[in-house]
Amino acid sequence: MYRKSYNIIEHNYDVVVVGAGGAGLRATLGLVENDLSVACLTKVYPTRSHTVAAQGGISAALGNMSEDSWKWHMYDTVKGSDWLGDQDAIEYMCREAIPAVVELEHYGVPFSRTTEGKIYQRPFGGMTTEFGDGPPANRTCSAADRTGHAILHTLYQQSLKNKAEFFIEYFALDLIMDEKDGCQGVVAWSLEDGNLHKFNAKKVILATGGYGRVYFSATSAHTCTGDGNAMALRAGVPLQDMEFVQFHPTGIYGAGCLITEGTRGEGGYLTNSEGERFMERYAPNAKDLASRDVVARSMTVEINDGRGVGKERDHIFLHLNHLDPNVISKRLPGIAETAKIFAGVDVNKEPIPVIPTCHYNMGGIPAKFTGEVVTNTDGINDTVVPNLYAIGEAACVSVHGANRLGSNSLLDLVVFGRSVAHHIGKEMKKSGKSILSKKGSEEKALDRFDSLRYSKGDVMPAKLRLDMQKTMQNHCAVFRTGEGLEKGSKKMDEIYENFSNVKITDKSLIWNTDLLETMELENLIQQAVVTVKSAENRKESRGAHARDDFRDRNDEDWLFHTLAWLKNKNIKLGARPVTLRAMSNEVQSFPPKARVY
Ligand code: SIN
Repeated sequence: MYRKSYNIIEHNYDVVVVGAGGAGLRATLGLVENDLSVACLTKVYPTRSHTVAAQGGISAALGNMSEDSWKWHMYDTVKGSDWLGDQDAIEYMCREAIPAVVELEHYGVPFSRTTEGKIYQRPFGGMTTEFGDGPPANRTCSAADRTGHAILHTLYQQSLKNKAEFFIEYFALDLIMDEKDGCQGVVAWSLEDGNLHKFNAKKVILATGGYGRVYFSATSAHTCTGDGNAMALRAGVPLQDMEFVQFHPTGIYGAGCLITEGTRGEGGYLTNSEGERFMERYAPNAKDLASRDVVARSMTVEINDGRGVGKERDHIFLHLNHLDPNVISKRLPGIAETAKIFAGVDVNKEPIPVIPTCHYNMGGIPAKFTGEVVTNTDGINDTVVPNLYAIGEAACVSVHGANRLGSNSLLDLVVFGRSVAHHIGKEMKKSGKSILSKKGSEEKALDRFDSLRYSKGDVMPAKLRLDMQKTMQNHCAVFRTGEGLEKGSKKMDEIYENFSNVKITDKSLIWNTDLLETMELENLIQQAVVTVKSAENRKESRGAHARDDFRDRNDEDWLFHTLAWLKNKNIKLGARPVTLRAMSNEVQSFPPKARVY
């Protein structure tokens, strides 16, 4: 195939981190603290990464406001995951939460405080005490309702202080792979000056976040296109558990912006058109603080049964108007502003119109708690993909299983960003100053880039994107049916096929958003196809995957992780065992049981 020749700028590093959200920055900081040479590539300015939008908080059993234990946190997370989470990794996350959050405090995160000066902690959905038998836990550490913002800025400042190198507005195109030695680096495109770069590295960490923009209504930023997941797929690495997509109960109706679960933690509640606090029927104990999937489904049932609010009876009300206005101005100032701007509502006087909105991807690149990426071809044994790591929402460790608990996401970013830095730091010390092998070539990445840049099709990317988003919203959202998934899967195949006829109008290289968004679209489409096929395949209901035609969880047949490979536009599915044992002897594992709140 003819293609333009490109002048490639080469760089050599110990480690390349792709992504500068909470996970990428925490890893970058840990690696430079270990005296490694690190390049952090990011397509947006670091403090604009989507972590900035995380509101309610980060969980850790600090016990600042009432008794707590990391073992209770572990139980809640296993239960929240509907037993699909790997219990060794969950133990690690909940135990390490405590030093990781204290470390954040010492780095300078401006947490809200109790009157004694301790970190303020609020209740969040599914977080309980006494292994589910006690009252809700005050476990979610917050900086008002701008916790992600506070963490992201602190980690960026600390990384700069430690002289980390950032390549800002660099879009990673593809991984450079070698059959034997695994990942060798990354090819990236500098949006600012249009140059193409080859980053040779001993280790590559993908911290590229989720792919929420596959859906029509999402709390995720427009930049959440799961670029690392798609790069992994194209490199022959499978994605895991992609059928599990979380819908946050309270996205603002129409706009999709997040209204934190912290509102319900501070005493907010949901009502239907009859003014009824309906969550009391669905979750008699936890009520509005049941796990997210339970609340999102209950709201959808209310709407489907004709008890939605508004002219079209298609949403639900969230009330904060009974709360002390001081609580709102002190603990929830951000959402008061958001509700005013995006719903025209004064939260002190009126309820906020809300609807379940795509918020988080439990699935991603299969990884161990050390960040090492794994694959599994026989359904039994894992194999490590050499030199490739994944952390944060891009990874599936799997600590969230079939459903993530609120405030466990900021935690996942920080704990696994920290652990990958520790792991690589140790490995590099052991191996001494190893030579950069520079195997593998950038040719495949350049071919893909060039053929898209000069594609001569007639399908507008914006139309394809809308088709994809509507297909996923209509056929693969809160409730799923076999028939709907089959239709969705066929439509997604057509959309993927149509992508070969995509039209790029702008052929330039500098800040070419036409090309950039089309490359992001290809990434999204590949993940959408994997998501819908994995969902079609899983014939049970578990966590966020709720099928009308298979309403129960079925541990006998489906207690395993889904793996999905992309091969010439086709999806091959496989399985990986779930780890049901804890990591240490300090805690017992939690065998599967019915999940009620
Ligand atoms: C929220 O504040 O509700 C979102 C935080 C999260 O998803 O963990």
